[in-house]
Amino acid sequence: MNAATEDLRPAVLVTRRLPAPVMEAAAHRFRLLDHDPPEDLPDRGRLLELAGRADGIVSLLTERIDRELLDAAPRLRCVANVAVGYDNIDLDRAFARGIEVTHTPGVLTETTAELTVGLILALTRRIVEADRFVREGRFTCWGPTLLLGDDLAGMQVGLAGMGRIGRSVARRLSGFGVSLAYADRNPLPPEEAQGLGAVRMPLDRLLASSDLVSIHLPLTTETRHLFSRDALSSMKRGAYLVNTSRGPVVDEAALVEALASGRLAGAGLDVFEHEPRIHPGLIGRDDVVLLPHIGSASTTTRVNMGMMAVDDMTAVLAGDAPRFPVPR
Ligand code: DGY
Repeated sequence: MNAATEDLRPAVLVTRRLPAPVMEAAAHRFRLLDHDPPEDLPDRGRLLELAGRADGIVSLLTERIDRELLDAAPRLRCVANVAVGYDNIDLDRAFARGIEVTHTPGVLTETTAELTVGLILALTRRIVEADRFVREGRFTCWGPTLLLGDDLAGMQVGLAGMGRIGRSVARRLSGFGVSLAYADRNPLPPEEAQGLGAVRMPLDRLLASSDLVSIHLPLTTETRHLFSRDALSSMKRGAYLVNTSRGPVVDEAALVEALASGRLAGAGLDVFEHEPRIHPGLIGRDDVVLLPHIGSASTTTRVNMGMMAVDDMTAVLAGDAPRFPVPR
């Protein structure tokens, strides 16, 4: 390419293939360092090499945007993470380098809340187990004691974390006849708490009294293994645990023990401690529902998340403020 035709647009690395409208918008606005990024995990060596030429990186939660990668990217001005969570990014290092980091809050709230409610129902009413039962040809006769589950109505559902997604789950569950409890460092505005009938309590009381606990916390140094062996064994006997936030919030080995001992009646997990590896003690169990981290996986939401990241990348590389910066 001679000087007259040189592409002067900023160089951007999109680490994995995003939905087509997002890839098209990105290709239109930026000089993409990889026009056909992989659908699966990108090769780390290739990522490091491409990062070396990038003004911006559009990343997913599967990429470790750590010190090594940031240091390999001398021109980098923005990391736009296509996720609300950003525990995959070394923020201290990025901010020390003056790199802007953005994320995608809000747009996936309802989608993730819907999935959470689906997971809760699948778990308490054994829907996945029942599907397997039918497919295996075992449905030979209607049965009065066949695949009995538990009613959600009448349960106390405890929400650990009452941010956007926790509140959205609470709104949906309030139509199911449950009583809602929540643990969060910030109380809800009184009218909202009253409208939901949600009672705030310390986490230990929430664990001891709830029939089902659903986790809606970001992964931070404070929340890693918050659901430790001790915390799990302080849960009400026969309670359920649901996690659609981040896997390492739960000590997965301790969870397997709590299920095996009968302390917990079951678990619904969309996220795992060592994702995508699953603790072998979970795989064979009928009292768990295991999903491949699909909380935000609707077509509309994934396009919206990708467009938010591309828009913020465009703003930062043009010298403007992003709309969704990760708080410093
Ligand atoms: C997020 O956005 O953090 C989800 O885990 C992926 O959608």
